[in-house]
Amino acid sequence: MNNIIIKNASQVVTCSGFAGKRGKEMNNLHVIENGTVIVTDGVISHVLKQGEAIPVNESDYKVISAEGKALLPGFVDSHTHFVFGGYREEEFSWRMRGDSYMDIMNRGGGIVNTTRATREASEDELYASGKMRLDAMMKLGITTVEGKSGYGLDKETELKQLRVMRRLNDEHPMDIVSTYMGAHATPAEWKGREEEFLDFNINEVMPVVAKEKLAECADIFCEKNVFSIEQSRRYLNAAREYGFKLKIHADEIVQFGGAELAAELGCLSADHLLQASDEGIKAMAKVGVVATILPLTAFSLREEFARARTMIDSDCIVALATDLNPGSSFSASAPLLFALACIYMKMSPEEAVSAFTINGAAAVGKADKIGSIDVGKQGDFVLLQYPSYKFLPYHVGMNIVDTVIKKGEVVNF
Ligand code: NIG
Ligand code: FE
Repeated sequence: MNNIIIKNASQVVTCSGFAGKRGKEMNNLHVIENGTVIVTDGVISHVLKQGEAIPVNESDYKVISAEGKALLPGFVDSHTHFVFGGYREEEFSWRMRGDSYMDIMNRGGGIVNTTRATREASEDELYASGKMRLDAMMKLGITTVEGKSGYGLDKETELKQLRVMRRLNDEHPMDIVSTYMGAHATPAEWKGREEEFLDFNINEVMPVVAKEKLAECADIFCEKNVFSIEQSRRYLNAAREYGFKLKIHADEIVQFGGAELAAELGCLSADHLLQASDEGIKAMAKVGVVATILPLTAFSLREEFARARTMIDSDCIVALATDLNPGSSFSASAPLLFALACIYMKMSPEEAVSAFTINGAAAVGKADKIGSIDVGKQGDFVLLQYPSYKFLPYHVGMNIVDTVIKKGEVVNF
């Protein structure tokens, strides 16, 4: 039954809106005290204030009491690499003793290390480990996940990763937005022939991904010694021709002009941005590129955090995401994400909630369907054990989720 009444939540934290929230707007969560939300056939049909009569026949609905609990939209994690083979725990130890992420990548570790393991893994193995990660994320209140390919770097394995995500989207309650990231790194067999490798991506893989509708977005790792600004522009322009929405890993390790490129191309989002320039930030704000920041990655790499305050104060649409992947950030910890955003990046709890709900939805091009509690949106919610959203960053790294509801159905773990 996809009919549910969630009654008398101490707060209905609506995050109301049908587009990403910029700058100051991120502070307004449009909270309804002691509100009730009704979902009919999986879609939000009523958002009621205290004292408003319930206008449906309650016997047609599952009714849950939310007294003393805050109700939020399900979290939207708009940047992950959750389908992969193998692990890189050795590299983690090397990093802890001082090796840099790029040093390890340059000597054959990093992304290409996971590529080897992902090529060897069967579709069923990738499905099983992917499912395990989705289960863990859902328990933390995440109801939509973006997932990238990019650990195949050959046609067969890129398609395998994307097919695994399609199957998980069909069979798991989580909604998955897939992104084609053939240009994540240059594999050994193409080393020194980066332009040809991009041609291969553009001419051999992209058309199949587009034709089989295996991904909605395309992404590239635009970084010194990975893919240049010119290469990223060429790849993303080609992706646009195939109908993909554009995303870019930008200005993660060095200041490189990635944010500026994202604005020039009108990308849906630019992600990481630890080193984004003032001009790049202003340009993103102007065009409405979602600035997606990934504090779990900065934390795991012992890097300075992205300049969230500058971005918000410059009127950007800022999203938070986990970047779950086997290398730079093996974490989907929504609780730690909230804590880092508020404690270290100086975001207010309200800004952090906007960034992981409606702005996450904007970062995957779905702010019209998910990310807020508005009539007409999908019935995806997280109910907290506590009466206020303010408990999210305050409970550092602790899971305070009481119940997760997906398309109007309580998810049983
Ligand atoms: O978003 N920076 C590039 N890509 C991933 C890391 C991938 C990996 O190390 O396996 C990221 O951090
Ligand atoms: Fe990433």
